Amino acid sequence: MVKIGIITGSTRDSRVNLQVSEWVKSIADERTDAEFELVDIKDYNLPKFNEPIPAIMSQDYQAEEAKVWSKKISELDGFIFVTPEYNRGITSGLKDAIDYLYVEWNNKAAGIVSYGSSLGVTAANDLRLILSVPKVATVGTHVGLSLFTDFQDMVKFNPAPFHQETVHKLLDDVIAWSTALKTIRA
Ligand SMILES: Cc1cc2nc3c(=O)[nH]c(=O)nc-3n(C[C@H](O)[C@H](O)[C@H](O)COP(=O)(O)O)c2cc1C
Repeated sequence: MVKIGIITGSTRDSRVNLQVSEWVKSIADERTDAEFELVDIKDYNLPKFNEPIPAIMSQDYQAEEAKVWSKKISELDGFIFVTPEYNRGITSGLKDAIDYLYVEWNNKAAGIVSYGSSLGVTAANDLRLILSVPKVATVGTHVGLSLFTDFQDMVKFNPAPFHQETVHKLLDDVIAWSTALKTIRA
């Protein structure tokens, strides 16, 4: 069975991200066709990116936190990124978490759950482009959540029920692609 990491995309103390990520995890846990783990980038305390050599050239990471992060991403076969939209893009915390590594991401699949005033669509598309470089294949199915209708007062997550079915469709695709891509990493 493939192991899928649900990766948080915001690190600020007052983030709504964890509510959304935990909701995705609770839906994923209804399934028996993959294993799921909530991977909170905040727990890894990654410093502002300051590695001397890009990960595409060397895995000799200087930051101890990067070594722990590398081990975690290496263990996973696929990902669900849960991202907010900050100034039409992803957060600097998530960008650093991606930039720290390269081979650990290679030939794995991902799905995106985004949120924002316009469903976080621009951040989701930004993330697709970024992930294409470390060879993460993003599925087309997308869960887009509105700050206006899926949250109360923009802070308490209260998703419309129909999103649950889309999360399952997203997981169907990510599990299928993660399983397929595992064969080319062997
Ligand atoms: C610096 C900053 C920039 C933002 N830019 C956007 C944006 O471009 N589009 C959008 O829909 N929401 C934007 N927002 C609103 C966020 O989507 C909203 O605050 C959301 O709760 C952030 O996710 P988080 O609470 O998990 O950090 C922005 C928020 C911040 C803090």
